[in-house]
Amino acid sequence: MFVFKAAVVGAGTMGGEIAQVIASAGIPVILKDVKQEFVDLGLSKAEEVTRGQLGALAARGRLTEEQADTQAAETLARITGTTGYEGFGDVDFVIEAVPERMEIKQAVFAELDAVTPGHAILASNTSSLAVSEMAEATNRPEKVVGFHFFYPASLMRVIEVVEGAETSPETLGATSTFAQAIRKMPIICGEEPGFVVNRILNSAVGEVWRVQEERGLSIQAIDRAVTEAKVAPMGPFFLGDLLGLDTVLHVAEHLRETLGESFYVHQGMKRLVEAGDLGAKTGRGFYEDGEPRSSGSEDFEADELAQRFVLKAFVEACLLAQEGMATVKDIDLGMMAGAGLIPPPFARADATGLDEVLAALQRAERDWGERYAPPLVLRRLVAQGRLGTKSGQGFFPYPQPDDGFDQGEAVKLETRGEVAIAWLDRPPANSISPEVIGELGRLWEHLEGAEQIRALVIASANPMLFCAGADIKAFTKMDEADARALLDECHALLRRMERSSTITIAAVNALAFGGGCELAMACDVRVAAQSATFGQPEINLGIIPGFGGTQRLPRLVGANKALEMNLTGDPISAEEAFEFGLVNRVVPDHELLDVALAWARKLAGQAPLALGQIKLVSGAGDLDEGIEAEKEAFGTIFASEDAREGISAFLGKRKATWRGR
Ligand SMILES: NC(=O)c1ccc[n+]([C@@H]2O[C@H](COP(=O)([O-])OP(=O)(O)OC[C@H]3O[C@@H](n4cnc5c(N)ncnc54)[C@H](O)[C@@H]3O)[C@@H](O)[C@H]2O)c1
Repeated sequence: MFVFKAAVVGAGTMGGEIAQVIASAGIPVILKDVKQEFVDLGLSKAEEVTRGQLGALAARGRLTEEQADTQAAETLARITGTTGYEGFGDVDFVIEAVPERMEIKQAVFAELDAVTPGHAILASNTSSLAVSEMAEATNRPEKVVGFHFFYPASLMRVIEVVEGAETSPETLGATSTFAQAIRKMPIICGEEPGFVVNRILNSAVGEVWRVQEERGLSIQAIDRAVTEAKVAPMGPFFLGDLLGLDTVLHVAEHLRETLGESFYVHQGMKRLVEAGDLGAKTGRGFYEDGEPRSSGSEDFEADELAQRFVLKAFVEACLLAQEGMATVKDIDLGMMAGAGLIPPPFARADATGLDEVLAALQRAERDWGERYAPPLVLRRLVAQGRLGTKSGQGFFPYPQPDDGFDQGEAVKLETRGEVAIAWLDRPPANSISPEVIGELGRLWEHLEGAEQIRALVIASANPMLFCAGADIKAFTKMDEADARALLDECHALLRRMERSSTITIAAVNALAFGGGCELAMACDVRVAAQSATFGQPEINLGIIPGFGGTQRLPRLVGANKALEMNLTGDPISAEEAFEFGLVNRVVPDHELLDVALAWARKLAGQAPLALGQIKLVSGAGDLDEGIEAEKEAFGTIFASEDAREGISAFLGKRKATWRGR
């Protein structure tokens, strides 16, 4: 499903900016509200944001004033305001952003179902309501999905894509692709109260609210302490004023009603809302003109508050992951990009040491209550000795580079028995530069000389991505001869890997685009994490894959699907990659490295000559050439010492010992 035209229904706080985000990504969009004055407000918001963004680019010298003006005019011309449903007959994707009331949402969904084409996806920007209930108002529940932007939509990078009871995998996939097309990062989550970000943030902030009310503490001192401890970008009371206390209260009450007493509702906030003091939007909330409107004691330990916030956020994150509502990676991504928690809960716990987090939670449970009880997933990891960064594995895997090897900057070698790991470690995107190719080549040469190493796993040191592609900037700086030489060097390396009797396994943890996907395809086996994505987006830049994407992809997935991927440039999910035959296995995110290492150990234990020949002749050239090559190889292998050993071990019911001869 492709999105050529979108629509946004409701031009309020969120709608105007959502339309702006879509238009600035080059997609025409209709913006609808019930009255022209509301439509106009949304349109002026879109104009203000567009001019602000392009003005900033001009101020930084990235655009001339004239270019900025032209671009702004083009972006705004893509937004059409309306109070009716004209123009909805050919939309592909609609985002509903009307008030947070189910009866209004259902009425809008029923209308949308009647006026949009059958293939159109109907999405809701709801913060807390069930999309499944909205879907009931339509005849296409499989095409109804949550699409939750954060405020302000033009700035915040993350979107929660919420799977309703009947949302189809195709809808989820197309919605994630659309999110990326409008330059946002989708995180997939289940239809749970508060989804991911609001649930975790509320859980943590609630602990600070609770302590403030129980002990009558100063809100200003608390806000200062939380900010200084760097556990959140701003204090909870200041943040509440900024977001609107009515909205914050609504979410807090909803979470408490649905998820229980571990969520706290601030009574002072309730009184403020009842009095109409809603924070920044009414000029008064917890603060007025930057001054707190209540006083309180400053007698508290800042460390304790920070600890409560961090531990509770972590517990809630674990519960969400345990319930299968979102992956560990998506939860951390959401908390980073949607709530500004840096580091996010799982990465922070891994860095602290999971054994220490467990001990801290045991103390917290004793001192502060059972809502701090250590979650099962944490107890399991500690029992397995997976203690985070220090042990090389916690919620995420971490490189523990070898001492004896002259490590590069961008690729690190770690050896575990007869298996080596090449960790791609080039922030921010692990993009493939001349440096990466050189270092991978050096690492491969080292392995060729190390007889005991029979398998190499290629993994990413960045939990959020595998490899975003070739380093386009580095390529544009090269002259033609240098670029050609680099391509030759890279191809030669990949072919050497393919022709070698050392097995290569790509452990694709997340996004593998362009050169990242091609590197994975040159490996013998690809194991993908559930939340990984694959794609060959070169065509979107007007270029073609350069590291073998036009050759290896059709060999793996067939000409048909390969053409589709190379011609559309659209990403595919790990599940689709599995269906297409691009990956060998899809595993839960946290099991990825273990599974890849298990494959490496299994294949490293196979007869080396046979393994090398199978690699060499599989899929070689055309079928006749391939069969000839296979016959030739079969003869050679059958006459080898290993073949005799293998057959006699089989007959003798014992384990074979391979000599590689
Ligand atoms: N405000 C936030 O911070 C925020 C953040 C994320 C998500 N959301 C969600 O986004 C949605 C919209 O929130 P908002 O803050 O923009 O609300 P808002 O009240 O500012 O805007 C809603 C708009 O919808 C219009 N509307 C009402 N009925 C309509 C109909 N039948 N057809 C077309 N337009 C109609 C209203 O006139 C109004 O302009 C809600 O579901 C909310 O939970 C809000």
